Amino acid sequence: MIMASQTLTSFEEKLKSSFPTPENIPAEVRIDGKKYEPLYLLDGKLLKWDGTLDDVSSPICISENGQVKRTIIGQVPSMDATSAMEGVYAAVRAWDNGRGEWPTMSVKGRISAVEKFVGRMRLVREEVVRLMMWEIGKSLEDSYKEFDRTVDYIIKTIDALKEVDRNNSRFSLDDGVIAQVRRSPLGVCLSMGPFNYPLNETYTTLIPALIMGNTLVVKPPKFGVLLHQPLLEAFAECFPKGVVNFIYGDGAKIIGPIMQSGLIDVLAFIGSSRVADILKHQHPRPHRMRCILGLDAKNPALVMPDADIDLAVRECVTGSLSFNGQRCTGLKIMFVHSSIIDQFLKKLVDAIDKLPQGMPWEKGVKLTPLPEFNKANILKGYIDDALTKGAKIMNQGGGTFYETLFHPAVVYPVIPDVKLYSIEQFGPIVPVCSYSDEKEFLDFVTNSNYGQQLSLFGNNPKIMAQLIDRLTNQVSRININCQCQRGPDTLPFTGRKDSAEATLSISDALRCFSIRSLVAAQSNENNKDIVQSIVTSRYSNFLNTDFIL
Ligand code: G3H
Repeated sequence: MIMASQTLTSFEEKLKSSFPTPENIPAEVRIDGKKYEPLYLLDGKLLKWDGTLDDVSSPICISENGQVKRTIIGQVPSMDATSAMEGVYAAVRAWDNGRGEWPTMSVKGRISAVEKFVGRMRLVREEVVRLMMWEIGKSLEDSYKEFDRTVDYIIKTIDALKEVDRNNSRFSLDDGVIAQVRRSPLGVCLSMGPFNYPLNETYTTLIPALIMGNTLVVKPPKFGVLLHQPLLEAFAECFPKGVVNFIYGDGAKIIGPIMQSGLIDVLAFIGSSRVADILKHQHPRPHRMRCILGLDAKNPALVMPDADIDLAVRECVTGSLSFNGQRCTGLKIMFVHSSIIDQFLKKLVDAIDKLPQGMPWEKGVKLTPLPEFNKANILKGYIDDALTKGAKIMNQGGGTFYETLFHPAVVYPVIPDVKLYSIEQFGPIVPVCSYSDEKEFLDFVTNSNYGQQLSLFGNNPKIMAQLIDRLTNQVSRININCQCQRGPDTLPFTGRKDSAEATLSISDALRCFSIRSLVAAQSNENNKDIVQSIVTSRYSNFLNTDFIL
C-alpha cells in the first residue's frame, strides 16, 4: 500500500492516474452489483441468505478525493460449514443412491435440459461479462471471449454426448454373451473453479458432470463469485430439484467438513496442488472419490539460436502476459540461447513497453488490475529476491505498482537459486534465463515439480525432433513455435507431476465424470426374448437402442 504522503515516482503516478473517478467510468460498462440479493441455490429453490455476508471487492480501484481504493461491488452469502452441508445433503437426496430422477433420466432427457439451460444462459451474457470484468479485472474483450467459449463448450459437449450415446445404442455379442455398455454417472460432485477463468473453468467440469447424470455442489471461487448469480434461476428452472446447488463462503472453513463427511464422490477442483492434497486427505475413503484436478504449472519456453526471434517474442509476450500472466497455461520462464539473448531481450522489452495498461473496458488494453489481495507485494518480493541474486529488471518501470495495477517486469538473468526459477508467479513477471547447452533446459524440465506444457522455438527439424522425443514423457503438451495454451477444447488438457490429475477435453470430460456400466446376458432364447421385449417396449432408460439424432 502506498501512503498518501509518500512521493510517487512518475511511473507510480502514471499507474495511479489510470484509475477512474466515478464520473469517468463509461456508462455502458457500469454495474450495479448491489442490486444482487445474497441468493443461493438449494434443493431447486433460490433462497435469500439472511446470515453473515462477504463483500465482493473489485480490483478496479476508484479515484475519489485524491484517494484510490478498491470498490465493494456487492455481497454474497458467507456460509458456515453447517449451511454449506445443506447443499451437499440436497445433492445426496437428488442422487438418491443413483436412483434419483436425474441420474436415471434418459440421455435424451438430460440433453434437452442442458439445451434449455444454454438458451437461458445466452440471455444473461452482457450481465455475466460485465460482472466478470469488475470482479477479476479481465478485459471486456477477454470476458466476452470467456463467456462465448463456455457456451461453445456446452454445445460441443452436447454433440459429443450424442456421439457417445449413438455408439452405445447397440448390443455386442461376444463369446455367447450379449451386452450393452453405457456410461453411468458417479454420484455427488463438488465443483470448484479458479478465479482466473471463473466461468469457463467452473463450467468445463460442472456441465460434463451434470450432463452425465451426476448431482452437484458448486462452490464459486473467491473472486468471480457474483457473476454466477444471474445464472442461478436458470439452474433452478432447467434441472430437477437438488441436482445443482450453489454454496458460498470461505473455502478453508466450509470445504473441510464437506470432505470429511465422505459424501463427495467426485472432486472437480482447479487450484493449487497443496490445497488438492489437503482435500483428498480429508475424505475418509479417498479411493471412493474420483479426482479431476487442474493444478500448478511452470511452463517454460526454449528459444533456440535459429528461432524466428520476432515470432518467439510475440508468442512469449502473449504467453507470459495474457490476462496479466494469470493463466495456468501461461509461459512462466524463458530459456534463450546466449547467442541471441541480447537481441531477444531488446525486442521483448520493446514489445512489453507497447502493451497498453489500464482499465479492462479500454479498447485494446492488455494489462489490467490484479484481483488477489496483496498480490503486488508478493510479486515484488519475488523480484527483490532475484535482484539480490544478481538479476536486473530489464524494462523501464518493471515491477512498479500502484494498488492493483502492476507493471510487468522482465527479470534477467534468472539462475536456479532464484525463486522465480521454480515458483509459479501467476502474475506479470517475465523471468528470462540464458543457456548455452540444451541440457540446462532439459534439466529444468526434469527437475521441475510441474509437467503441464512447454514451448519450443526453432527451425531445425532434427533438433526439434530430438527435443520432442526427450520431453514428451515430461509434459503433456509440446507447442512448436507458439505459446502454451489449453485450446482448442477438443484437444486433451492435462499435466504430469503436480500439474493435473485426469484429462479434460470436450470428449474426455464426459469419460472423467462417468463410469462404464453394462448389462450382460447369456445369449439364449429366453434371455434374448427378455432383452428384446425391454427394448421394443422401451421399458428402460439404460437398456435401449434409441438413436439420438
Ligand atoms: O488457467 C488455465 C486455463 O485453462 C488456460 O486456458 O490456455 O485457453 O488460456 P487458455
